[in-house]
Amino acid sequence: MIDLKVRIGKEIFKNPVWAASGTFGNGEEFEGFLDLTEIGAVVTKTVTYKPRKGNTVPRVVETPSGLLNSIGLENKGVECFKKEQLPFLQDLGVKTVVSIAGETPEEFEKCAEKLTGKNKPDAIEINLSCPNVRHKGTGCRLFAQDPKITEKITAAIKKKTRGPVITKLTPNVTDIGEIARAAENGGADAVSLVNTYLGMAVNAEEMRPVLGNVTGGVSGPAIKPMALRAVWEVYNEVDIPVIGIGGIMTGEDAAEFILAGASAIQVGTANFIDPGRCAGVLKELKEYLLRKKIKKVSELIGKLKV
Ligand SMILES: Cc1cc2nc3c(=O)[nH]c(=O)nc-3n(C[C@H](O)[C@H](O)[C@H](O)COP(=O)(O)O)c2cc1C
Repeated sequence: MIDLKVRIGKEIFKNPVWAASGTFGNGEEFEGFLDLTEIGAVVTKTVTYKPRKGNTVPRVVETPSGLLNSIGLENKGVECFKKEQLPFLQDLGVKTVVSIAGETPEEFEKCAEKLTGKNKPDAIEINLSCPNVRHKGTGCRLFAQDPKITEKITAAIKKKTRGPVITKLTPNVTDIGEIARAAENGGADAVSLVNTYLGMAVNAEEMRPVLGNVTGGVSGPAIKPMALRAVWEVYNEVDIPVIGIGGIMTGEDAAEFILAGASAIQVGTANFIDPGRCAGVLKELKEYLLRKKIKKVSELIGKLKV
């Protein structure tokens, strides 16, 4: 009897446990491991306007308590995604948040345009924070390192779409609160954070980098304390909902992020260890709320005793 509902913009999600982009395919790959209709939403693998091959292999390596990846946004392009991949989750009635990216601000807009009209997703997450792609003509490595570009792209996408827009932030900045404010000024309905932390791995024996791309992004339990701090900081900076991501493996981890200010959370790397983990996190979060006699999950948001 616990009320788990979450509101982002005008959209109501049945609960706050979502699957994170790039770690859950397009949902279909996870059928059979859990009841997909149980979870709050699936954020699909980032799509771009044109197909992308991704980076040179190897693209993934394990690190202590984490994962280092440099996939480089491999995808078949938004046209193909809309026709062949998006309908699976929509036909099941699963809330679908489509993650989009581009090499230029214009590419983000063109991608969002393709996701309007009939069969549009329930929300769009703008991935301004992928550390594994190069951007043209912006002078910064990641769009979400620049408050002006963050605001500009968010505002442009907000104009193109009627549904909620979630801006996904990078933790690879000096002041993440400033970037979150820029997203809010651009009209974002929510911000999600964090994407991966820049990192690299070296093979000393062979005296070469492990990843084909040399550098990549670190995720998993290793980043949880830093992600929690980022969520707490952003929660205290903006008035829009914050979606917490980073090393969430259990329901208790999810509760920690909600206490730090998250309205919803996303499970990422944990899906590679246990493909049914999203359902596990949801079950454990419900058990936590029951134990704490909390009837509405929204009552827990930001309730950290400081
Ligand atoms: C293999 C891999 C691929 C990812 N691909 C994407 C992606 O396409 N788009 C995106 O926004 N984030 C992507 N991410 C980042 C995750 O969505 C998430 O923000 C990050 O991994 C931190 O959460 P975690 O520690 O629970 O994994 C990827 C992460 C991993 C490990």
